[in-house]
Amino acid sequence: MLRRLVERAAVALLLAAAGGCGGGVALPELSPSAVGDTAGLLARGAYIVRDAAVCGGCHAADPGHAPDGDLSGGLEFKDWRLGTIRAFNLTPDSATGIGGWSEAAIVRAIRTGVHANGGVLAPVMPYAWFNGMSERDAWAVARYLESRPAVHHPVKDSHSLFYLLGKPFIRPVTRPAAAAPPAGPTAEYGRYLANHVAICVDCHTPRGGLRSTPKLDRLFAGSASPPRDFPANPANLTPDSATGIGRWGEDEFLRTLRTGVNPRGDTLNPFMPWRELRRMSDDDLRAIYRYLRTIPPIRNEVPRRKAAGG
Ligand code: HEC
Ligand code: HEC
Repeated sequence: MLRRLVERAAVALLLAAAGGCGGGVALPELSPSAVGDTAGLLARGAYIVRDAAVCGGCHAADPGHAPDGDLSGGLEFKDWRLGTIRAFNLTPDSATGIGGWSEAAIVRAIRTGVHANGGVLAPVMPYAWFNGMSERDAWAVARYLESRPAVHHPVKDSHSLFYLLGKPFIRPVTRPAAAAPPAGPTAEYGRYLANHVAICVDCHTPRGGLRSTPKLDRLFAGSASPPRDFPANPANLTPDSATGIGRWGEDEFLRTLRTGVNPRGDTLNPFMPWRELRRMSDDDLRAIYRYLRTIPPIRNEVPRRKAAGG
């Protein structure tokens, strides 16, 4: 599983080649008056990290087999544009993890891509999508990460010259934070989850061009030619009746996410993180389904790979 996300992410590196650096992105003010009620913050954070965003798919020590394990860093992204970049150790170890980071610094990193030291993270870290996460949800994530045991595990990058030359031009994502829509089985809340929390959109939207930017006019259209390290083709989730999930009822959608078996009887490759996503609540999965019904249908045949190994 290591390196399967490489190309998708590596190429995103070139997204941002137009000046600026992380300096100047203020730390968010985290207080109940600024962000909202802190009740249940830790449980909310665990839910987002483990069941929805599945941060362990990149940050766990063994992301392919044990995304629920310690988030002590592991997945390696290797590409001529990047050199080697690894998903960092997110445990509160002060020497090798984020032990020295304030919660506000963690929130800023997730939402904008700014490192605690003021530098900007490689866009391999999907902060372009996480930017839409509310500060309260990102705060919950920070609270959860800091509650975990510290694991001493140095994670080393080795950047290519190309990356080092381009790095000063990577820009943080500075759109201001908005509150999450009210939770419930609505398309509006589903959009928030699918695009900014569980980031289904990140895998299911095709990319193109030299910089492999997501094609925003083809949201959720899937891809028959994903980055070469993807072990399966991300399915078309638009409501197209022939090539998408237009004929699926809501219950079929839920059953697919819960069992990893789609209505045609195919077992989904676990690269599609259904084993973690199945822990999402009924309401949240319904919300995502209802949102997916509202996006434009796109006819795009995405053949399943036979030897997907799920
Ligand atoms: C697609 C893979 C991927 C996913 C999913 C992902 N990350 Fe990351 N993340 C990375 C990579 C790679 C880096 C290192 C970027 C760099 O070297 O500039 C990183 C860096 C970070 C950093 C900065 C840490 C440091 O020491 O600099 C934080 C904080 C972080 N991620 C939090 C999260 C959280 C929380 C989630 C889930 C909500 C998450 N990430 C999901 C790939 C990912
Ligand atoms: C890490 C990338 C990734 C993420 C994140 C992801 N998916 Fe997937 N998804 C895939 C891939 C790849 C497939 C195809 C699996 C196969 O062919 O075995 C897939 C298949 C599916 C299918 C089955 C479609 C069909 O026609 O059989 C559904 C439904 C689905 N994903 C929904 C979601 C939802 C909802 C989310 C977010 C909550 C999500 N996915 C997040 C990669 C991803």
